[in-house]
Amino acid sequence: MVCNFLLIMFSILFVKADYRVGIGIGDITGPIVEINFLGYANPSQKGSGLHLRQYARSYIIEKKPNRIVFVSIDTAMVGFALRIKVLDELKTLYGNTYNEQNLILSATHTHSTPGGYMQDVIYDISTAGFVTDVFTALKEGIVKAITMAHNSMENAKIYFNSGTLLHANINRSPWAYLLNPDEERKKYLYDVDKEMVQLKFVATSSNKLLGVINWFPVHPTSMNSTNTLVSTDNVGYASIKLEQHFNEGALIGKGPFVASFASTNLGDVSPNIKGPHCIDTGVPCKDVTSTCNGETQQCRATGPGKDMYQSTEMIGTRLYTKALNMLQNKNDREVNGAIKIGHQYINMAEQVIKYTLPNGTVVQGRGCVPALGYSFAAGTTDGPGAFSFQQGTTSNNTFWSVMHKLAAAPTVEDIICQSPKPILFNTGRANFPYRWQPSSVSIQVAVLGNIVLAAVPSEFTTMSGRRLKETLKNVLLENGCLNNCEIIVAGLCNSYSSYVATYEEYQMQRYEGASTLYGPHTLAIYQDKFQDLLTSLLKNQEFNKGVPPKLVSDVYLWSFTLPVVFDIDLFNNFGDCLTQPLSIVSRGTLVKATFVSANPRTGNLRNYNLLEIQMLIKNAWKTVATEADWETTYEWKRTGFASSQATVTWFVNINVPTGQYRIGHYGYYKPLFGHIQPFNGFSDRFTVV
Ligand SMILES: *[C@@H]1O[C@H](CO)[C@@H](O)[C@H](O)[C@H]1NC(C)=O
Ligand SMILES: *[C@@H]1O[C@H](CO)[C@@H](O)[C@H](O)[C@H]1NC(C)=O
Ligand SMILES: *[C@@H]1O[C@H](CO)[C@@H](O)[C@H](O)[C@H]1NC(C)=O
Repeated sequence: MVCNFLLIMFSILFVKADYRVGIGIGDITGPIVEINFLGYANPSQKGSGLHLRQYARSYIIEKKPNRIVFVSIDTAMVGFALRIKVLDELKTLYGNTYNEQNLILSATHTHSTPGGYMQDVIYDISTAGFVTDVFTALKEGIVKAITMAHNSMENAKIYFNSGTLLHANINRSPWAYLLNPDEERKKYLYDVDKEMVQLKFVATSSNKLLGVINWFPVHPTSMNSTNTLVSTDNVGYASIKLEQHFNEGALIGKGPFVASFASTNLGDVSPNIKGPHCIDTGVPCKDVTSTCNGETQQCRATGPGKDMYQSTEMIGTRLYTKALNMLQNKNDREVNGAIKIGHQYINMAEQVIKYTLPNGTVVQGRGCVPALGYSFAAGTTDGPGAFSFQQGTTSNNTFWSVMHKLAAAPTVEDIICQSPKPILFNTGRANFPYRWQPSSVSIQVAVLGNIVLAAVPSEFTTMSGRRLKETLKNVLLENGCLNNCEIIVAGLCNSYSSYVATYEEYQMQRYEGASTLYGPHTLAIYQDKFQDLLTSLLKNQEFNKGVPPKLVSDVYLWSFTLPVVFDIDLFNNFGDCLTQPLSIVSRGTLVKATFVSANPRTGNLRNYNLLEIQMLIKNAWKTVATEADWETTYEWKRTGFASSQATVTWFVNINVPTGQYRIGHYGYYKPLFGHIQPFNGFSDRFTVV
């Protein structure tokens, strides 16, 4: 009897014991001007300022003896090098607490942030090689977010929730999706997932909401390739809106509550829900080829707003509203159970596989060395002509002609392996000046009670994600999970290897198929490997950790980004306000001021505000908004060889309190001789009515 009682007490105390959770946020904003954005990889999309700051949002979950670290990062993708260098820093700080096995770095996949940090030639091409400052900003901000989470660990409860969100995403390759068998498609209502999945963290002692991670499949491509202001796009906007809701009065990025909208199986999923139309005529594009009069350039998907800003705002608001709704209605369920996590490097080109397609046909084959097909160059309807490759004009593009010659020729074996993909760039055999695309990928599985997080290193299409989820769900069920067993696909984690389309979708060779690097069986290999890894974790078996890929030595990294030479203005002081705002400003209108400025690549942007909207309260200026706010923009332009100006805009919302305001601009300039110096300047005061 007593023994039984003790046993029950024991189970209550230990089995039901809370998790320990720590949450943190770190600014990762790096150079905001003169560096090309990564995503559309359009050489004319070069940073010229900032709309929204970039952040890394970190969540540490512990149940002894294990820890999981999940970081959602406002950037296009994550590469091996970044993860390895972050781990190096964490090792100096915390020994072996954080390691290759338990750190998950997931990119949101915004297409409006600077690139040049990948160390694979093909992904660093549009930035003219490696950009140290971008890499450093990411690394430091991520480590800062993890440090903050590490220092804030407390007992907490975790809740799982899911809900349906319509009118926020569409399939951008619906014709490829249709190649998946009928009986499989019939299991789903839509050709993209409409579920938002949520993990929320609540402090045990105070019952305070600490943070939340939301997963909803959508490309952060509401801002299109003409945008040159750093932006975290629809998901980044949803994050700051949700954070502002719970962090009342705090400046963005400074409050305790942290909200992520992390990536998942977004491969073929677009936010441009009005769908693809020809920009000249307005008629829908030709279906399978997504062309207008034979050209991809004319075919663009847009919507739901009248321009890209409004579309970003609308999609972001829909994500935010849904997440808030799910946080507020209490139909979530508490997560219980042990945590486990494991990571493996897989050399895709070494894998052989035999499996059954959903229609019953047995296929076998192998993983190929990576290669990109022709449709890769045509881009998508979210960003046609990605990599500046316009259909039919390849031989006119000197840059790509040179690249094409540098890329190794495919072997007969490669051609057969990748078939029916016509190989444009045989990146897997190209090694000049170093690796073009990795043959190795990173896979990782985290188990949180009945919930499994599959961290995939690429952009899985809708059906690829569903198949992986189904495979892993079966593993859970076979291993004793009884109810509420959930699989979450975490997208773009730890390394990047473009897309994963299903075998059937691959046959059509649209953009996603052409960018499925390791051939038609890529997905099947992932399903197989993830299944093995999850099984090993659940059965507490050892597994092969694989071989980490080689990093390129800093010495060999190609980099053609020039440093800032110096800043000078012969007629004015830095920070002088050249164009003043109107003295009386109505709410619902835009305020604008122009300042004498310096190159914002000088100085560490993560340590100061570029602009501040200040309100006069009891004779003191209080900062009420910065460049991180949606309502402000910061644009920088050269006015001479070393002189420049910054233009600040502030959209004065209807709900802004009336009163006296001014705009401040801060920066650093690099004199011809001597040290870097800070400067600031303010506009005249103006009245908001
Ligand atoms: C991007 O959006 C703007 C509207 O905000 C539009 O004028 C432009 O044509 C779009 N460009 C592309 C490449 O989609
Ligand atoms: C270059 O482009 C022009 C127009 O885009 C085209 O008429 C011409 O044939 C192209 N030249 C080659 C060598 O393809
Ligand atoms: C099953 O699907 C594959 C790929 O789409 C196709 O090649 C094969 O013919 C299909 N088999 C049957 C029996 O329909």
